[in-house]
Amino acid sequence: MSETMMPHPIAIQMTGISKTFGKHLAVVGLDLTVQQGELFSLLGPNGAGKTTTIKMLCCLLRPSSGTATIMGNDIQKAPLAVKQVIDISPQETALSEHLNAWENLSLIGRSHGLAKSTVRKRSEELLQMMSLLDRAKERVRRFSGGMKRRLSIAMALVSDPQVLFLDEPTLGLDPQSRAGLWEHIERLKGGKTVMLTTHYLEEADSLADRIAIMDEGRVVVQGTSRELKDGISERKVMRIEADGLSADVVEGLRQIYPEVAVVEGGVEITSDDVDLYAIQDYLRPRGVTVRSTYLKQATLDDVFLHYTGRELRE
Ligand SMILES: Nc1ncnc2c1ncn2[C@@H]1O[C@H](COP(=O)(O)OP(=O)(O)O)[C@@H](O)[C@H]1O
Ligand SMILES: [Mg+2]
Repeated sequence: MSETMMPHPIAIQMTGISKTFGKHLAVVGLDLTVQQGELFSLLGPNGAGKTTTIKMLCCLLRPSSGTATIMGNDIQKAPLAVKQVIDISPQETALSEHLNAWENLSLIGRSHGLAKSTVRKRSEELLQMMSLLDRAKERVRRFSGGMKRRLSIAMALVSDPQVLFLDEPTLGLDPQSRAGLWEHIERLKGGKTVMLTTHYLEEADSLADRIAIMDEGRVVVQGTSRELKDGISERKVMRIEADGLSADVVEGLRQIYPEVAVVEGGVEITSDDVDLYAIQDYLRPRGVTVRSTYLKQATLDDVFLHYTGRELRE
């Protein structure tokens, strides 16, 4: 394939896309680019504007201003073309509870106008992929929350979309089912462009190639998880867990390192340059037993706190 014939590498391009509800600014001027094959996460607390963004991109809600293209198709000028290349597993899972998994998939497949044999083949692959094949003939009503979510994702995949939207795929699941679902979402990586919204930090951290952190309708920062964390921590935080740290010893440490915080079980020293051996040499003769020391890594929670002044609690 010649250079000029290479497919466009951009899957989603948002330009100043905004949505207001009355006077309320739900989404404010997003300019985000998602590359083909990327798993991109919109991370933010409840009410940040994630679902509203996804709904606009899926042509379910008209932008108040700005626009976006999906695989080169403008969501406002060519919504039908957009619909042909996307699918969504919505925040509120929409399954027919009285039908079994096969029937739910068939229904969707047929509504996409796919041939019966194609639907059958794809359904089987997807049920296999989502570990539902052995339960496929049971009514969905009896499924656990995690199974319903997996089926919802399978349903969004029946049309074999180039771009898949997963809106809070693990909302309301217990931690174990969440982790299980992540493994299944992981399997989609690389093959499809996936935009996933979540308010779970570890979810974005473990799954996403790139993350945009949203708050109050705006993107506060974007990048890879590594870039986001590195971006806020030029300075190192050394955590020292130790017994026998008296007020005097802490005061002495402060003479060397001005920023010493007393935390449960030890101290945290923030500095551009922390000499671990010097610290231990200082502590040992003063009767302090050092249990462990480690460089604290910044978390996405630290990133959120840094940019918004608040914590994103799960
Ligand atoms: N149909 C609507 N009418 C009025 N306000 C809405 C509507 N949908 C969402 N909102 C408001 O827009 C903001 C963003 O909501 P939403 O996109 O659902 O956030 P998220 O998905 O990040 O939790 C919230 O303040 C919400 O109350
Ligand atoms: Mg939402």
